[in-house]
Amino acid sequence: MAVDVLLGLQWGDEGKGKIVDVLSAGYDLIARFQGGPNAGHTLEFDGKKFVLNTIPSGIFFENTMNLIGNGVVIDPITLKKEIDKLKAAGHDLLAKKNLMIAKRAHLILPTHQLLDAASEKKMGEGKIGSTLKGIGPTYMDKTGRNGLRIGDITLPDFKERYQKLTDKHVSMLKALYGEVDDFSEREKAFFEAIELINQFELVDSEHVVNKYLRKGKKVLAEGAQGTMLDIDFGSYPFVTSSNTTTAGACTGLGVAPNKIGEVIGIFKAYCTRVGSGPFPTELDNETGEELRQTGHEFGATTGRPRRTGWIDLPALKFAIMLNGVTQLVMTKADILSGFDKIYACTHYNYLGEKIDYMPYDICSADAVPVLKEIDGWHEDLTGITEVSQIPAKLKAYIEYLEAELGVPVKYLSVGPDRVQTLILH
Ligand code: GDP
Ligand code: IMO
Ligand code: MG
Repeated sequence: MAVDVLLGLQWGDEGKGKIVDVLSAGYDLIARFQGGPNAGHTLEFDGKKFVLNTIPSGIFFENTMNLIGNGVVIDPITLKKEIDKLKAAGHDLLAKKNLMIAKRAHLILPTHQLLDAASEKKMGEGKIGSTLKGIGPTYMDKTGRNGLRIGDITLPDFKERYQKLTDKHVSMLKALYGEVDDFSEREKAFFEAIELINQFELVDSEHVVNKYLRKGKKVLAEGAQGTMLDIDFGSYPFVTSSNTTTAGACTGLGVAPNKIGEVIGIFKAYCTRVGSGPFPTELDNETGEELRQTGHEFGATTGRPRRTGWIDLPALKFAIMLNGVTQLVMTKADILSGFDKIYACTHYNYLGEKIDYMPYDICSADAVPVLKEIDGWHEDLTGITEVSQIPAKLKAYIEYLEAELGVPVKYLSVGPDRVQTLILH
């Protein structure tokens, strides 16, 4: 057996949570492989809505196990809030024993968040527009070989280790930014949350996943963020701090590259981006506002308005290449209903040339989109349940994308609910 991977092909928020939930019934294990509570994955079913930050989106299926992998950075406070909220909604994860946490996953400390906030404040206009969840500083400590890991919470000297790292952060904050906000309340909450986390099964994710495969069980790796936010291949420095691509699933779970099966790439029928950084097809106008309002494009984690734009084919082709995508999922097709014309960026005008790929630097030189006009459709899609009900113009849009991208669109999502999903192939 191989691990299938599901990940975002744009700038995040493509609808990963919803689609993982839809697919979960067919998997034995859902494993998050990178990122942390910068993610907000929304699921809707039976009139209920959940936003998950750290917990994998397979959590609502009785027979599906869930794993927070070693590549994830965990904020215990956020994780406890998620666990508590789910319990209040009738999903007691401790009782159900359906969540495992990798010992090798790194911990986000209260001071990591202070460092994130101070760094962003200092950068002013040039800030990354991070989610302020402490992601960058935590991955910096991981690669700087200073970090604390989930497995450390069981050690008798965990508190001393915590104190040592926190003291270092406080010195850095004082030296670099001259001030340190009071974090005593968060520290208290941190240790309360650690106690709860300690009650879960803390595992070696690499052994767990490979054991599932050896037993012939089905595993789905759930990505966070999107390919265009990848630390290596996104629009650096306006990126997140992990590898959001398929390769990240290998390192983030302990799976060898030859054990990767299907790679399911998700994209919206248009584009969004939250935070700073280049966004070639951005619509900073009334149409962009219409997409934002109709698509409810406000961050699931931070509530920030998302920037909106037309679909970007050079960026999607780049993402498909990097990830080895074998199946596509298009979400939010319903949001485009009502436009007479929609547009797809086919190329960029970049430094005097027409190119159809994502260049090294789109931060200091603009990639100006070349747009193709496409006929829109007016039918409401949110109630359709059969492929035969798909409007001809939408069908033509999908066929055009498949021809351009060279990968089939296997699933079409026409609303936020689990049931609003069509299998096309
Ligand atoms: P994720 O981070 O990739 O899981 O995506 P988010 O949850 O941050 O954002 C996607 C948003 O779109 C959520 O509010 C979803 O409920 C919603 N959504 C997902 N698929 C569809 C769809 O096909 N149509 C509509 N209208 N909403 C969708
Ligand atoms: P999901 O999994 C959209 C963006 C932030 C910022 C940049 C760096 O829900 O798709 P960070 O806090 O990671 O240091 O911020 O990345 N970002 C996301 N944008 N969806 C996400 O996650 C994101 N996670 C981080 O807005 O631009
Ligand atoms: Mg999201």
